[in-house]
Amino acid sequence: MSNLQQWWRNAVIYQIYPRSFADASGDGYGDLPGAIERLPYLVKLGVDAIWLSPFYLSPMADGGYDVADYMQVDPLFGDTADAYRLIERSHALGVKVVVDLVPNHTSDEHEWFKAAVAAGPGSPERDMYMFSDGRGTDGELPPNNWSSVFGSTGWTRLVRPDGTGEQWYLHLFDSKQPDLNWDNERVRSAFDDVLRFWLDAGVDGFRVDVAHGLVKESGLPDQLEATELLGSNMGPMWDQDGVHEIYRRWHNVLDEYDGDRALTAEAWVPDLDRLALYVRPNEMQQAFNFEFLTAPWDAPTYRKVIAASLAANDSVGAPTTWVLSNHDVMRHASRLGRADTADRSGAGAEDAQPDSALGLRRARAATLMMLALPGSAYLYQGEELGLPEHTTLPHEFRQDPVWERSNHELAGRDGCRVPMPWVADAPAMGFSPTGEAWLPQPEAYCALAADQQVDVPDSTWSLYRDSLATRKSHALGDGSLTWIDRFGDDVVAFTNGDVTVLANVGGSPVTLPDGEILLSSMDVDGELPTDATVWLKRS
Ligand code: NOJ
Repeated sequence: MSNLQQWWRNAVIYQIYPRSFADASGDGYGDLPGAIERLPYLVKLGVDAIWLSPFYLSPMADGGYDVADYMQVDPLFGDTADAYRLIERSHALGVKVVVDLVPNHTSDEHEWFKAAVAAGPGSPERDMYMFSDGRGTDGELPPNNWSSVFGSTGWTRLVRPDGTGEQWYLHLFDSKQPDLNWDNERVRSAFDDVLRFWLDAGVDGFRVDVAHGLVKESGLPDQLEATELLGSNMGPMWDQDGVHEIYRRWHNVLDEYDGDRALTAEAWVPDLDRLALYVRPNEMQQAFNFEFLTAPWDAPTYRKVIAASLAANDSVGAPTTWVLSNHDVMRHASRLGRADTADRSGAGAEDAQPDSALGLRRARAATLMMLALPGSAYLYQGEELGLPEHTTLPHEFRQDPVWERSNHELAGRDGCRVPMPWVADAPAMGFSPTGEAWLPQPEAYCALAADQQVDVPDSTWSLYRDSLATRKSHALGDGSLTWIDRFGDDVVAFTNGDVTVLANVGGSPVTLPDGEILLSSMDVDGELPTDATVWLKRS
C-alpha cells in the first residue's frame, strides 16, 4: 500500500468523550449504545474516524483514565458486546475507530496494584509499579520531590494495618493512578496483550495517553524547582529516550495485523523536533500538535508553529496532527475569547469570563485555518456546534481531581466535559431520555443544540460539514503548504493545492484578492474582516 493511501495521514478524527456524548440508558452518563445511535450524525458531518476516550472498567477517579481492567467495558458505558457493536457499526458506515490506551498508570483498584500492595517490598508484583523506600530516618519523607500534574505531591505512602508507614508509590497524576514500571518486562508483555485484545476486536488505532511519561530518568533524581509538569521545562519524568523502544515494539505488534492500524501520541513535548521522534517510520503514526493548540491568537506565532511543525514532521515522513480542543483544555470557542488566548486552563464563575461572541468568531476562523492545513486533524465533540466552555459550573458539581488536589485553586477540566446538547427543547437537551445529566448544562447550550444547527445554513455545524467536504474534495489533507507574504504580518496566508487560505488574525480588515469564495467563517464582501478566515479557489 502506498503511503498516500494510509487513512490516518489526512483523516479528520472526532473525539468522543463517552461520559458526555450521548446517554441511551438514562442514568445521566453517556454510554456506548448512545454513541452508536449518534453515528449517523457523525457520518453526516463527514468525519473519517472516531477516537473514544476510555470506556474501560474504572472507579472513575479521573474520568476513566484510571483503568481497573483494560479488557473490560465499565458497566457505566455498557458491555464488551456494545464495544464490538460500536466497532462493527462504525466500520459498516465507513468510519474508523481509535480507542484510548492508558499505559503510564493503572487504577489503584487494578488487580496488578492490589497484588503489588499485598505481596510486599522486593516482590515481582511490586516491581510492576514505581515503589520506593522513603527518605528520612524512618522513611517518612517521599523518595524525591516530584509533584503530581494535578497538584500536590507525586508520592503516596502505603500504611500497614498497624498504622505504621511502608513504601511509597509514584503517581504523576492522582494518588488513585499509580505509575507502572516500564523497565519491567511483565508490564511490557501485559500491554502487548492489551493491544492485541483490541486489535483483534477490530480497532484501527490507539491514542496513547501520556506517551512521553512511561520511562523515568534512572535514579529518579529530584526535579528542578522550575519544572513545569505540562510546560516547556521538562523534568526527569518526561520525554526520556527510553520511551521510543516501547513504541518500536508496539509498531511491530500493529504490523502483525492487516489494514493500517495506527498509534497516536499524546505527548506534551514542546520541542517539535523531539516530538517528531515519536512519529519516525518505525514508531507511532501521529502525535498531537499541542504547540498549535496552545498558540495565542497571533499571526506570527501561528506561522512559526505551522512552519516548524511541518518541517519537523516532513523530516521523518510523518503528517502533522492538528488539534484545537480536547477534554483537557478550555474549549477554543472560549479560550480565544479570553484576555490571554493561550491560557488553556478551566475557569469558574469567580474568574474573568471569556467574551463568548469574540471567542466563537475566532474559533470558527481558527478551525477553518486548521482544516486547510495538510495532515490530519482532531475535533472534540461539540466544537462543531461552537460550544463554549461551561465557565460558571457551580463548584459542588466538580469531579475533576485537579479541583481537589489544587486545594480549589484550579477549576479543572469539568467545564469542557459537559454533556452534549442534542435537542434544544428536551430534558437534558436530548443528552439522555430521562433528563439526567452528570454535569448540568449551561443555558447557552440550548440555542446551540444540534437540532438547531444541523442543515441550517451559516450555522457552525454547517461550516464544519462544508469545510470537511471541501477539504476532502480539494485533497487538502494530502496537500502541501506555500506561504503568501503580501497580506501583511497579521494575516496567516497560504495556498494548499488549488485553495488560497487567508486567516485575518489582526485588527483591521484586509482587501480580498480575486477568486471564487469556497468557504468563509463569516460574511465577506470584498474584504476579510478581523478574526475571520476565507478559502478561495485559485484562479
Ligand atoms: C491525559 C488525559 O487526556 C487526561 O484526561 C488524564 O487526566 C491524564 N492523561 C492522565 O491519564
